[in-house]
Amino acid sequence: MQFQWYPGHMTKAKRAMQEDIKLIDVIIELVDSRVPYSSKNPDIDQLANGKSRILLMNKYDLADPVRTDQWVQYYEQKGYFVAKVNSKNGKGVKAVHNVIQAACKEKIERDRRRGILNRPIRAMIVGIPNVGKSTFINSFAGKACTKTGNKPGVTKGKQWIRLNKMEELLDTPGILWPKFEDQEVGLRLAYIGSIKDELYNIYELSVLLLQYLRENYPNAVSNFYGIAEEKASEETLKQIAEKRGCLKAGGEFDLDKAAKCLIDDFRAGKLGAISLEMPQ
Ligand code: G4P
Repeated sequence: MQFQWYPGHMTKAKRAMQEDIKLIDVIIELVDSRVPYSSKNPDIDQLANGKSRILLMNKYDLADPVRTDQWVQYYEQKGYFVAKVNSKNGKGVKAVHNVIQAACKEKIERDRRRGILNRPIRAMIVGIPNVGKSTFINSFAGKACTKTGNKPGVTKGKQWIRLNKMEELLDTPGILWPKFEDQEVGLRLAYIGSIKDELYNIYELSVLLLQYLRENYPNAVSNFYGIAEEKASEETLKQIAEKRGCLKAGGEFDLDKAAKCLIDDFRAGKLGAISLEMPQ
């Protein structure tokens, strides 16, 4: 399947982020735990320019726990401070404060040696669309936070959220773009719903997903729908259509509708905790 997608304003967004990164001490990058490679932006390494790096494996509730732990190890070996979070229910979110302190230990000590005490750590959240940045910021900053520098006429410039005495967060999340030149990446991002529905054919997408699931999570589909294990994707889709009553006017199976059902159930985690990538 071919994906034709090109994010607009890429250069502009990149330049804006370059400016923002100058203001901060640590970059908190969110990835989707089901696709920790495909949902990670390659340019951020360049943009990061020596800043401390935290990688949050968000939506870990939807991913295969064994593979998620392998990814945690993989990224830790690459020098990231890594944590698993579920921004939706808040699991693991509070612990990110400790991760920030650990990631900025050197900076805190450097400040102390220079006699600078209690200068807050400034952090920025980045990630590709739909990875959960807004949900994470809401959960992490909570209601107790106060916005700083947003009084009209007083301070112009960036908006900061004061998380506590020690930490400030740049208000707007930095939106990155995925590795759009790679078709495999496009496919995986389509599975998780990060690519507009109009850009792919839902039936073809479901056929490929079924193939992946058959090879990697053999009973996930049959267990969830209560259908027999099938070798051909089309047969499985017919069975899903039957179970779910996806029928056309003439009574014939509506396979596109069944495909949509499957993709939606997969995205919602109903087929189980499933990962789409393994560390190389
Ligand atoms: P963005 O700012 O990076 O674009 O992402 P956003 O926070 O809007 O989150 C995108 C979707 O991912 C939302 O679902 C959100 O609820 C969901 N989400 C975020 N973090 C987690 C997580 O850790 N686990 C799970 N399971 N889901 C998560 P939505 O369907 O678009 O909205 P809603 O119906 O949940 O409100």
